Amino acid sequence: MSHKFDKKIWIIDFGSQYTQLITRKSRELGFSSEILTLDECHKRFSSQHFPDCLVLSGGPQSVFEDTFNYDVFFKNPKLPILGICYGMQLLGKYFGGVVERGIVGEYGHADITFKENFIIPSTPQKMSVWMSHSDHIKEVPKDFDVIMESSNKLVAAIKHKSQPIMGLQFHPEVEHSKHGKSLLDYFYQNIAGLKPDWNSTQMLEEAMDLVLQVGDKKVLCAFSGGVDSLVAATLAQRVLGDNLHCFFVDNGLLRIQDYYHIDLLKKETKLNIEIIDAKDIFLGSLKGIDDPEEKRKIIGKKFIEVFEIKVKEYESLHNIHFEYLLQGTLYPDVIESISPHINGGKSVTIKSHHNVGGLPERMKLKLLEPLRHLFKDEVREMGLSLDLNRDWVYRHPFPGPGLGVRILGAISTHAIKAVQESDQILYEELLEAKLYHSTWQAFTVFLPVKTVGVKGDGRAYENVICLRMVNSSDGMTANWSHFPHEFLEIVSRRITNEVAGITRVVYDITSKPPGTIEWE
Ligand code: XMP
Repeated sequence: MSHKFDKKIWIIDFGSQYTQLITRKSRELGFSSEILTLDECHKRFSSQHFPDCLVLSGGPQSVFEDTFNYDVFFKNPKLPILGICYGMQLLGKYFGGVVERGIVGEYGHADITFKENFIIPSTPQKMSVWMSHSDHIKEVPKDFDVIMESSNKLVAAIKHKSQPIMGLQFHPEVEHSKHGKSLLDYFYQNIAGLKPDWNSTQMLEEAMDLVLQVGDKKVLCAFSGGVDSLVAATLAQRVLGDNLHCFFVDNGLLRIQDYYHIDLLKKETKLNIEIIDAKDIFLGSLKGIDDPEEKRKIIGKKFIEVFEIKVKEYESLHNIHFEYLLQGTLYPDVIESISPHINGGKSVTIKSHHNVGGLPERMKLKLLEPLRHLFKDEVREMGLSLDLNRDWVYRHPFPGPGLGVRILGAISTHAIKAVQESDQILYEELLEAKLYHSTWQAFTVFLPVKTVGVKGDGRAYENVICLRMVNSSDGMTANWSHFPHEFLEIVSRRITNEVAGITRVVYDITSKPPGTIEWE
C-alpha cells in the first residue's frame, strides 16, 4: 500500500549521530529519503508498505549484544540495501560471515583502497574516509565480495555477488569522507537502480498538499518572522488566502531589527499579520527573576496565556473560529522525537526550549506543519522558490525567549536598552563589512557585572557587553567565528561610545560544546 508522497529510501536509525546526514546527503543527490525507527519499519512492512531501498545506519551498539529483529529486511532478495558501519556488520552477521569484537577500533581518518577490478566512476582508487567503529567483519559471508580494504587490511566495503546489497564500514555521509557522496550516488543509481526524484518542485507540491487538507477552515499562525514561520505562512497563504491569520507577539524582548523586519513584512507580503503588544505582561512577570530556567519557563508560559486570550478576543471581534494552528516545525524536531535514544538512554534537559507546540488542549487546535519533512536548507530553498527576499530567508536564528536569554540575571529596562542597541550596532557593522552571512548567528549579551573604566575625564563603573558570533550548520555544535580584529575593534568602539552604561566589550571564544550558543 503506497502513498502519494512516499519516500523512495528508508533510512533505519540505529542511533548513529550521523543518521540525519545520510538523509541530507541523499536528498542533496536528488533522492527522497526519510528516517524511520526499526519499529516503524516493522509496522510498515507488516501493512505491506515497502520502500524502493533501505539504508541501515550506524549505531552505538554491537552485533554481539543487539536484540533487534531485523530478519524482515532480507525477506525480499530484490530489495536494495546499504549497510553503513553497524549496518554493514548486521549484513555480515545475517549472511553468515564472522564479525569480530573490536578491542582497539578505528576512529577518525582512514585510508581505504578499492580492490583491483572494482572501479566506481568519479572516485579515485584510494581515498580518505571517516571511520568510527570497534567491531569489524573478519570473514566476509560467502555470497559477498570485498570491494575495499583499509590500509591496515581490514574489510572496508563489501558487495553481494547477486543481490543489490552493499556494506560500507566507514561513514560516506560525513564531510571528512572524501568522495563519500559519489559512493552513495553509485549505490542508489547503479546498485539500487533508482532515479533521482527529489527536487524543489516535489518539495513544494508535498508541502502544499499538506496545507490543502485544511479545506476552507480558518488557520492561525504563531508568527515570529523567522525563516521557518515566514516560509510556512507564505506557503499556506498561497493555498488558503484570507483564511490564514498570523499573530506576532511582541514580548518586549525583541531586537530593533525585529521591529523593522515585521513592518517590512507587513508592507511587502500579503500576509495578514496581527501584532500583539504584550510587553508589559511579559516584563511584569519577569521582574526580579534571575534564574535562567525560570525565565525561560515564564516566557514560555506567558506566551501561551497571551496567545490564548488574544485568539479568543480576535475570534469574537471578527466572528470567526480557528480550527488549525500553523507551525514551522522542521524535520530535525520531528525525528528527534522518534530517536531511539529517547527510549533508551535518558536525555538531560540542557535548556527548556520555548516553542508554541504546547498550546493548551482546550484550544482544540489541530496542528498544521507543512515543513515537517524538511531540513533548514530545504526550507530556505523553498522560501526562495516562493519568491521571498533572500535577506529574509537567510536571517540568523533568534530564540523564542528572545533577549530574555541574552540579558544575564534579572531583566531591567537598562539591560534591554543596552542589549538592543548593541545588537543593532553589531548587526549594522556585519552588514557594512559584508560579514553577516559568514557567521551562523551573531548577537550581543548583557553581563550584569560592573567594571571600572574611564570616560572623558571621569571614572566610569559600568556594565559589560559580550559579543557572541558562531559558525555552525545546525546549532548542535558550533565554533566561534574568527572575525578580523579590525571589525571587532569598530564594533567595540561604537558600543562603548554609543550605548549608555557600557564601558567594556568582550568577545566570547568558546565553542559548543562545552559552551552553548546562547548564554542562558
Ligand atoms: P543553544 O544555546 O542551546 O542554542 O546552544 C542552539 C540554537 O538554538 C537557539 N535557541 C532556541 N531556539 N527556542 C528556540 O526557538 C529556544 O528556547 C531556544 N534556545 C536557544 C539558539 O539561538 C541557537 O540557534
